[in-house]
Amino acid sequence: MNIVDVIRKKRDGGTLTRGEIEFWISGTVSGAIPDYQVSALLMALFLRGMGNEETAILTDVMAHSGSMFTPDDLGGYTVDKHSTGGVGDKTTLVLIPLLAAANLKVGKLSGRALGHTGGTIDKLESIPGFHTNLDRAHFLDLVRRTGLALADHTADMVPADRILYELRDVTATVDSLPLIVASIMSKKLAGGAQAIVIDVKTGSGAFLPRLEDSRRLAEALVAIGTKLGRKMAAVITDMSQPLGRTVGNALEVREAIETLQGKGPEDLATLCCELGAELLVFSGKAADRPAAVEELGGLLANGKALAKFRDLIEHQGGDARVLDDASLLPQARRHIEVRSAATGTVRRLDALSVGRAANALGAGRTKKEDAIDPAVGVEIKKKIGERVEARETLAVLHVNDEARLVEAQRLVESAYEVDPSGAPCVPPPLIVERILGHA
Ligand code: URA
Repeated sequence: MNIVDVIRKKRDGGTLTRGEIEFWISGTVSGAIPDYQVSALLMALFLRGMGNEETAILTDVMAHSGSMFTPDDLGGYTVDKHSTGGVGDKTTLVLIPLLAAANLKVGKLSGRALGHTGGTIDKLESIPGFHTNLDRAHFLDLVRRTGLALADHTADMVPADRILYELRDVTATVDSLPLIVASIMSKKLAGGAQAIVIDVKTGSGAFLPRLEDSRRLAEALVAIGTKLGRKMAAVITDMSQPLGRTVGNALEVREAIETLQGKGPEDLATLCCELGAELLVFSGKAADRPAAVEELGGLLANGKALAKFRDLIEHQGGDARVLDDASLLPQARRHIEVRSAATGTVRRLDALSVGRAANALGAGRTKKEDAIDPAVGVEIKKKIGERVEARETLAVLHVNDEARLVEAQRLVESAYEVDPSGAPCVPPPLIVERILGHA
């Protein structure tokens, strides 16, 4: 087989066979096919698209490009959750102990922050001592014994995605639906989950802000996962304003702990129960979604999910005293208030601007190599639909580096729109749509 023939076939709108996709992916991972030819094929795929069958094959071949976990490795009914990324999205921190408390197995492979959205690994690493570089044996042992573990994607898992993503990033081929689906789902398949729920965000702070694009992505993820034998659900959720009331790594850990203690913001607790409910129903541990939501709410209220979070922190080297004393988490030196110019009702709180403000303060990174500051971020005092008085605090900036303050302040001020008429404003619904797979 010759890669030039494969590129030509796709360039002319043909459908690639499993043999051709295997040839391309194995040559990419071994280095036998040079970057310029892989890039040419990516552009042909971007322009010509891929059918469902072709995307499913690509996903499967990418998943098998490195080492994988199977449900047998993980020792029980294995579930996973993925978010397309949002501002203040600390759902994973609450959801994985919650699922483990419901006797499901969660071996979670996560990523770091890039752009205006945060990453679970960075958040957890703000807990002193917590580490995520678990080797395979340690990871499997933790999932089998305690129900949960969270690790960085290891170099030997789905190497095809790492190589392709880096090339997509520099060849304007990231935003291709089949390539996005294959990238996300290959990592989920390699993680060994039997049932997967995807939180597809929509709104200004989302990877795909427009609802019709979020819906197309959700439908494609569910279709491909189902084709490959997984129980799949996608929930499209609001990201026009940040989730919860904190944005920034240690701040988000604090809020996740409060939620596990039953004292967190309602939107975060609701989202965790709604996402988790899909998995509980798939596993057969709950008869239907309302029963599952009630069971998960009970596990938040009775402290069992919090106990699982304690297990996770202790087994991965972290200082579990943060659960009782949040001041042990990194703290920023200065707290600067952003106040409302007018009395009225909050009409808009733009998630993207708040995410950028947190980044400006040092909470995120624009390049993979950038260091982050775990202590900084934005604490939101007023959300859409809430009343505010003139000079009252809208948000608090947690700041370490004064040079970054002005930009962050400008971004948070621009994120808010306060309607001085005081007319009521209904916040956008948190759960926008659900898409279920029919395996
Ligand atoms: N997230 C991924 O993991 N891959 C993509 O291609 C896009 C978003």
